Amino acid sequence: MSNNTSLNKVRVWDLPTRLFHWALVICVTGQAITGMAGGDAMVWHLRLGHSVLALLLFRIIWGLVGGRWSRFSAFIYGPTSIINYLKGQGKPEHGVGHSPIGAASVFAMLGFLLAQVGSGLFSDDEIAFSGPLTRFVSNATVSLASHYHASIGKWVLLALVLLHLAAIIFYLHRKRNLVGPMLHGDKLLDFDAPASRDDTVSRTAALLILAACAALAYWVSSLGEAAF
Ligand code: HEM
Ligand code: HEM
Repeated sequence: MSNNTSLNKVRVWDLPTRLFHWALVICVTGQAITGMAGGDAMVWHLRLGHSVLALLLFRIIWGLVGGRWSRFSAFIYGPTSIINYLKGQGKPEHGVGHSPIGAASVFAMLGFLLAQVGSGLFSDDEIAFSGPLTRFVSNATVSLASHYHASIGKWVLLALVLLHLAAIIFYLHRKRNLVGPMLHGDKLLDFDAPASRDDTVSRTAALLILAACAALAYWVSSLGEAAF
């Protein structure tokens, strides 16, 4: 921090994005635990799985209409930006929302989470539990989805989450705390940057979007014969 530059406090992560993140952390951790435990815990695996579905649907819509820095358009970077950032020639605005490298990891996590949830909906443990959409597809498709879900997707996600945590610790060592802003929403910047909208109207809109996503996820869950 230089002494003679004044710092601006800018709202970067709106409340809906922050709540999305920490709810996702809780649900995905729960998914890993209940998935590995199997048995009766699978009842919760399916319940939590539908919560992750609702959260991901919400994040996709929020990526289009959410706060300035939560929008996908704010963190879709071309190869030149990524290369320049890696060479240490990034632009100041790369430090506001997700950086070019951070963005790549965010898209990878969201993409593989979607694949995990998508395959889960068509998975069957051949004991007692099956995803709600298994009865709409062939046995071959169910086998393929279960194989991806149980043997590939979970490891890819584990690797991505470990990488995510490693990156956060790496930045912490370089005196950049990314966790604080994901908790309270603000960053202190030594240049002017637009803030993300985060007021009663935008938060209410987020709640309504989440309610619609939860209703959709609940409807998907009701398509199966799974014991709920
Ligand atoms: C972030 C989301 C998810 C994660 C991290 C996750 C993780 C896991 C893990 C670790 C297993 C155990 C695999 C093994 O036996 O080694 C599993 C199994 C299973 N999951 Fe998920 N899961 C997710 C979402 C879902 C969803 C949304 C559903 C369905 C609604 C689902 C349905 C199942 C089923 C039916 C199995 C048993 C499959 C089998 O053993 O072949 N999962 N999951
Ligand atoms: C299951 C574990 C986790 C998953 C799946 C996960 C997933 C994500 C995702 C999808 C984002 C992008 C947020 C958005 O724009 O919507 C993100 C960002 C972030 N996560 Fe996590 N996360 C996990 C655990 C954690 C933990 C344990 C911490 C802190 C101790 C953390 C700290 C952060 C921070 C600081 C950001 C913002 C990064 C930036 O400034 O670019 N995450 N995470």
